[in-house]
Amino acid sequence: MAILVTGGAGYIGSHTCVELLKDGYDVIIVDNFYNSKPEALRRVKAISGRDFKFYECDILDAESLSKIFDENKIDSVIHFAGYKAVGESCQIPLTYYNNNITGTIVLCEVMAAHGCKNLVFSSSATVYGAPKKIPMTETDPVDIEGVTNPYGRTKLIIEEMLKDLYRSDNEWNIALLRYFNPIGAHESGMIGEDPNGIPNNLMPYISQVAIGKLEQLSVFGDDYPTHDGTGVRDYIHVVDLARGHVAALGWIGKKRGLDWFNLGTGVGYSVLDIVRSFEKVNGVTINYKIGPRRPGDIAVCYSDPTKAKEQLGWQAQRGIDEMCRDTWNWQKKNPNGFDNAD
Ligand code: NAD
Ligand code: UFG
Repeated sequence: MAILVTGGAGYIGSHTCVELLKDGYDVIIVDNFYNSKPEALRRVKAISGRDFKFYECDILDAESLSKIFDENKIDSVIHFAGYKAVGESCQIPLTYYNNNITGTIVLCEVMAAHGCKNLVFSSSATVYGAPKKIPMTETDPVDIEGVTNPYGRTKLIIEEMLKDLYRSDNEWNIALLRYFNPIGAHESGMIGEDPNGIPNNLMPYISQVAIGKLEQLSVFGDDYPTHDGTGVRDYIHVVDLARGHVAALGWIGKKRGLDWFNLGTGVGYSVLDIVRSFEKVNGVTINYKIGPRRPGDIAVCYSDPTKAKEQLGWQAQRGIDEMCRDTWNWQKKNPNGFDNAD
């Protein structure tokens, strides 16, 4: 069965392609390398020991995308391609709306024209906005006013658009996957997260402090109503997240229509929990200071992952120690990410 993976050279996409190949799926990757490197694909091949087709293509380019569907018999699409930096989305919102929303429209139009109506979409816990209750369940209401940034709004708008698409044509099968905080790397240390410039997210920042590329972690606030005052999140190992996509394909194969699922562990860890675990597991010291709160941050965010367990038959397996160990293994083996490899 052939699966088209948009954004398959990226962080979550590359890990998902490894799992798909391992499970015997044929994989066709589409990426324009906006935020990724060809080396990631060479490593996906090395880890899985299997080859796959790759097209360097922008998903906004309907003609090229259409040719890919002409040339291949594609059963389902996993759609990762998009821009994801929250801060940047506030600076250049139209770029985000265009790439994320128009990109999804173009993709779905091409899919429909080729009779391919099975889609797994990368959504985000950010669609919940400031949580009304903890843990977050899929029945919690979401509304555009509650979402705090343009990036998050593109995700919510795409979710709504895909619901309308399904309402208009019940032949579609669509899984909207709301990721919590993906961290970690493949246990081989060959693929992992390779952010451009100074990382915005906690785990890559910690590992760059550990390797000496950055001097000090600033902990954004220690006066939140949490057990140690620092922000609490639902960190999920990227390989568990990747397995969630394989599970979603199984669900789609049963022709279940459209539904949405939290992909998280259901456990919340604070910033200082992560720092301490990283230090303990890896035998390193993280230089940090307590700084001011980051505007827009919430105190606590973690999932209720029961629905994914019951309906997708999926549950995260890896704990915080494995997340810290695998991040450090990747960082140590690739101090400059994929940079020196191409
Ligand atoms: P990533 O940037 O590593 O991967 C995205 C990939 O899509 C990149 O390889 C990029 O080059 C490609 N891409 C972007 N625009 C494209 C276009 N127009 N045409 C072709 N390729 C294009 O990001 P990631 O962390 O792997 O995230 C994957 C998806 O999951 C994104 O949609 C993101 O919004 C979503 N998501 C990520 C997180 C997270 O914390 N990483 C959380 C929730 C949701
Ligand atoms: N943090 C620090 N210092 C840093 C970076 C982060 O203390 O240098 C703290 C934050 O304040 C927060 C926690 O670490 O308490 C996690 O922050 P991240 O930036 O790693 O993650 P967020 O939860 O803020 O956001 C992430 C993604 C979003 C996504 C959201 C919900 O970046 O795209 O998870 O899934 F929408």
